[in-house]
Amino acid sequence: MTAAIKAVGLRKVYGSFIAVDDTSFDVERGEIFGLLGPNGAGKTTTISMLVGLIPPTSGDAYVDGHSVKREPTEVRRRVGLLPENPGFYENLTARENLMLTAKLNDVPNPEERIEELIGRVGLSGWLDVEVGKFSRGMKQRLGIADALIKGPSVLIFDEPTAGVDPKGAEEMLEIISSLAKEEKITVLMSSHLLHQVERICDRIAVMNKGRIIAEGPLERLTGGRYILELEVDGDLNTIAKKLQLLGRVRLEGRRIVVEAMRDMRKDAAQIVLEAGGIPLGMRFRRPSLAEIYRSILEAEVGT
Ligand SMILES: Nc1ncnc2c1ncn2[C@@H]1O[C@H](COP(=O)(O)OP(=O)(O)OP(=O)(O)O)[C@@H](O)[C@H]1O
Ligand SMILES: [Mg+2]
Repeated sequence: MTAAIKAVGLRKVYGSFIAVDDTSFDVERGEIFGLLGPNGAGKTTTISMLVGLIPPTSGDAYVDGHSVKREPTEVRRRVGLLPENPGFYENLTARENLMLTAKLNDVPNPEERIEELIGRVGLSGWLDVEVGKFSRGMKQRLGIADALIKGPSVLIFDEPTAGVDPKGAEEMLEIISSLAKEEKITVLMSSHLLHQVERICDRIAVMNKGRIIAEGPLERLTGGRYILELEVDGDLNTIAKKLQLLGRVRLEGRRIVVEAMRDMRKDAAQIVLEAGGIPLGMRFRRPSLAEIYRSILEAEVGT
């Protein structure tokens, strides 16, 4: 089966600056794919090429097998985009804004479709209110409805929950998840909010300086790493230093956090005792996405 989204050697060069460099990845149907990376990594540029907003310098991208270079109309028909800053007409109502999008995309029975979608994103009572009166969170939800109008098979979100309060973000993630799981819509989203990505994404790619430096399902990105959190009574700095024998060590308040490639509980306990400390508590776990992300980027600096 063809991938829902396929990027093949995508590259974007501005003058002598390489914004996106030889980027390739596949997203399968119904998958939620997270695109991560620091500011300026090339996420928005990649997204803009995927949806045909800017032409790649070289390489190509495919949506349901259609080339964004050769069949841009086919691609636009299939992809809904929620941009970093959705541009609605502030003096028009939600209904009027959505109607414009519907007309642009030749949507049949637009009134019905708009009512259905506005309910889907939880804005039923707001259909005839001017968008200028909407909060950031409401605009983002309206953005989802807007992206869905043409009935796309692929949805692309550029930092959908940025600037949205925790409850609103939670609701957006629920909507995004259910679109993928229940309606088999393929989702690609960029985000800096790693705990959100961790919750809903099936697969993740980390970009840095225009390149993908890590990619895979979360379990695979953990790469056999383990985390040991230690609560210890004693001279924390001395103990932390000695624990470096086992792996990377950092202090988080009164806690020592050790990251290693194996189960190091016994060795850690012994080192603590030898350093004159008293172990008070231990928690052994797999790393979170935030921790994985940090070590992926740190490894990059070292190369
Ligand atoms: N039109 C342009 N002309 C020149 N340089 C550009 C242009 N668009 C983007 N860039 C540069 O390309 C790089 C990647 O930008 P991009 O917006 O894709 O990053 P991003 O990963 O989306 O970052 P953020 O997390 O801040 O949204 C940046 O250094 C940016 O300055
Ligand atoms: Mg961006």
